[in-house]
Amino acid sequence: MVDTYAEKMTRHPSDAQRLGEQLDLMVENIGYLLHPSITAALPKAPAIADIATATGGFLLRVRDLYPEGTFDGSDISPAAFPLPGDLPENVALAVLDVKKPVPETLHGKYDVVNVRMLVAAMLPGDWAPAVVNLSRMLKPGGFLQWTECDLLHLEPLRGRTDSSVENLRLLQGRFGAVFREQASYGWNTLPTHMQEAGLHPVVRDVVSSDRISDTRGKATANRVRVFLAFARLMAERGAPGAMAVEEIDRLEMNIQNDIKSGAYIRYDIHVSCGRKPLN
Ligand SMILES: C[S@@+](CC[C@H](N)C(=O)[O-])C[C@H]1O[C@@H](n2cnc3c(N)ncnc32)[C@H](O)[C@@H]1O
Repeated sequence: MVDTYAEKMTRHPSDAQRLGEQLDLMVENIGYLLHPSITAALPKAPAIADIATATGGFLLRVRDLYPEGTFDGSDISPAAFPLPGDLPENVALAVLDVKKPVPETLHGKYDVVNVRMLVAAMLPGDWAPAVVNLSRMLKPGGFLQWTECDLLHLEPLRGRTDSSVENLRLLQGRFGAVFREQASYGWNTLPTHMQEAGLHPVVRDVVSSDRISDTRGKATANRVRVFLAFARLMAERGAPGAMAVEEIDRLEMNIQNDIKSGAYIRYDIHVSCGRKPLN
């Protein structure tokens, strides 16, 4: 099994907490868990799948809106799954690789298939086949909702007149290039892949990651943790050009001061939704 994600990302217990916080911050800025065109069409007890679910956090939150629904989460790794006994009885989690054909038992089963933040796992040629693959899981009239961030245009900004952004810029300079190729796809190509997979209509919603200004500091600290964890992973592996551990520790401290001074990072969040035709 090829796990592109694990080349750059860690799966520690603390990552589960970070993912939960990131999900809440993103949902606060987006303003919904499911696009309004989806909620307008859903039955009272929908069948909803969440792909690359990590902790199942999305399903547990959407379950509050549809307590009678059925919720199936899947991920290439079960590392972040809660224990089965800790899940409500209508939530189930399983292992599934989005790059392999979906088992036929899952075809035509869901009113909604949700995917969020899979970019670190995706190479440029992976997106279109994944959309075709996941579309097979939809019932006629079902929706594929896929949320990705435009990290290609991530910008450190100052929130106050005296904010210092220097260390956030340093971090972006060091790691922007590493992720540039991967970050160039997905957020901007998903609507076309959805159209090519026969979904119609396809709608795209774009919102700024700092729409709710109170989330700026927390969301920045959360995202910085990903870059610093990557830097530490590279240091551990002795990768060429890796930063020294002390240098990473110093950068982390300085970034905390940037954030305290009101600096933050901003990017666009793209939600793409496509509907499987009714016949
Ligand atoms: C950044 S996390 C996002 C988790 C969740 N969707 C959220 O928004 O909080 C990415 C997840 O994708 C999973 N993943 C990576 N490669 C995958 C693949 N090929 N198929 C399915 N899941 C994959 C990882 O294991 C990880 O849990």
